[in-house]
Amino acid sequence: MLPHRYPLLLSLALLAPPLHAQDGEQLYALYCSACHAPDGKGATGGAFPPLAGSEWVHGNPKRSVAIVLKGLEGPVDVAGKSYNLAMPPQGAVLGDDQIAAILSYVHSAWGNKGGEVKRDLVRAARSEFESRTEPWTAPELLKILPLEKKPTALANLTSRIYKGQWVQTPDFSKIEAENVEEEHHGMIDTTIAGLNQDFGIVWEGDFMAPVNGEYTFKLDADDGARLILNGHPVAEVKGLGPIGEKRRMSEGKIALKAGANPIRVEYFQGKGNQGISLGWKLAGAKQWQWLSPKNAQSQGAPTIPLLPKEDRTVIYRNFIEGTTPRGIGFGFPGDVNMAYSADNLAPELLWTDGFIDAGRHWTDRGMGFQAPIGENVVTLTAQRFLPPSARFKGYSLDPKGNPTFHVKMEGQLLRDAWAPGENGSLIRTLSLTGGSSVLEIPLGDNPEVTPAKSVSLSPGKPVTVTYKLN
Ligand code: HEC
Repeated sequence: MLPHRYPLLLSLALLAPPLHAQDGEQLYALYCSACHAPDGKGATGGAFPPLAGSEWVHGNPKRSVAIVLKGLEGPVDVAGKSYNLAMPPQGAVLGDDQIAAILSYVHSAWGNKGGEVKRDLVRAARSEFESRTEPWTAPELLKILPLEKKPTALANLTSRIYKGQWVQTPDFSKIEAENVEEEHHGMIDTTIAGLNQDFGIVWEGDFMAPVNGEYTFKLDADDGARLILNGHPVAEVKGLGPIGEKRRMSEGKIALKAGANPIRVEYFQGKGNQGISLGWKLAGAKQWQWLSPKNAQSQGAPTIPLLPKEDRTVIYRNFIEGTTPRGIGFGFPGDVNMAYSADNLAPELLWTDGFIDAGRHWTDRGMGFQAPIGENVVTLTAQRFLPPSARFKGYSLDPKGNPTFHVKMEGQLLRDAWAPGENGSLIRTLSLTGGSSVLEIPLGDNPEVTPAKSVSLSPGKPVTVTYKLN
């Protein structure tokens, strides 16, 4: 009798709404709400993690697609709380359309600010992760799909790094900075210096006040720090000591106009650990908002596995194995990486196949050098060859995060710019201004990678070389 039923089934199928028009809210109620609760706040009073306000469903939707397809297990932090549970994979049960519908709902419900999640994205992710049989762990997933950082209220932030031994916050206007950088994430974070001991940082930028009103700022530091807004001292943590002690913390109030208010934060590290925390709130508000990595403790270490984002170069400023203590790592898009030594004033390492696991190092700060993830590390020069007068003057970043290093010599300035090229290559542009001396710059002697052994650089005549890695 079966054949007779075909036409009926067929017409039913045709009458059914197209799959992408499936109701995400209904599907959510069926497949997710038992654990994440109908209001997205996490079932059984928050014993399960929330989806409302979760950083995991903020930004790139591929991350949540990956979680629904393959599940997630082990320790994970969601909206400031830690969980250690397991979410079963649902990729076998749910079709691409259904996952797209559910996640379009999840990413835009309960105040979440994402857009529609497309079926094609789900399909592509399904085939990308096809061979995966185990649920994700949070660190694994973050390596390939890092969380977007929420911008802070700080704009146009720069940091200046100083070196010296102090027991009080010094007068930084009398000391010369070693290094000036832009801090695109708007974070007041001591770990950017990549130093453990005896340094100072001064951040300057604009505090973008949302409205006119009275603001309270809360400052804490290991060791000392000072907060200045619109030229007025607002809070100060004095002398040497740890973070997190009530008697050292400092709170101050100031009336601000909506819009940009110049802010300056001074910090010094003298003894033991490092860290700074800076929070603010409008009069009457309950919640503090943070300008530093949240709950920065001594050694305040953000957990950011470092991998280049799709089109932005990332930086790693900490000890890197194979170069000098002041090595700075750059992970370029296209999976080519470079470490520059601010001691030897030259690029020292090139490698592919994975940049650096910063999370590992930051939890183990100061405990030796971090090896690059990739194995095919090429050493370039590994020695200082510029004249003794040469001094490192920091580096600047272009909008894509690509660095230009600045080195000053008697009457001359050397600029050393790096950017990703095609097919896993790196393009280096060297230029010299001032004076008349010609500089001989060694490029390394690995014929497979380096274009030549060295180049001669004359003032006003930039030279571009391409390193081939793949
Ligand atoms: C059986 C319970 C259960 C179901 C059903 C479930 N989840 Fe989860 N989900 C969890 C648990 C538990 C975690 C945290 C896992 C861990 O601790 O590693 C989690 C984590 C997540 C996360 C990342 C952390 C967060 O809270 O933002 C997302 C996103 C997520 N689930 C989405 C979904 C979606 C969408 C569905 C429905 C398709 C769903 N989950 C169904 C239990 C579940």
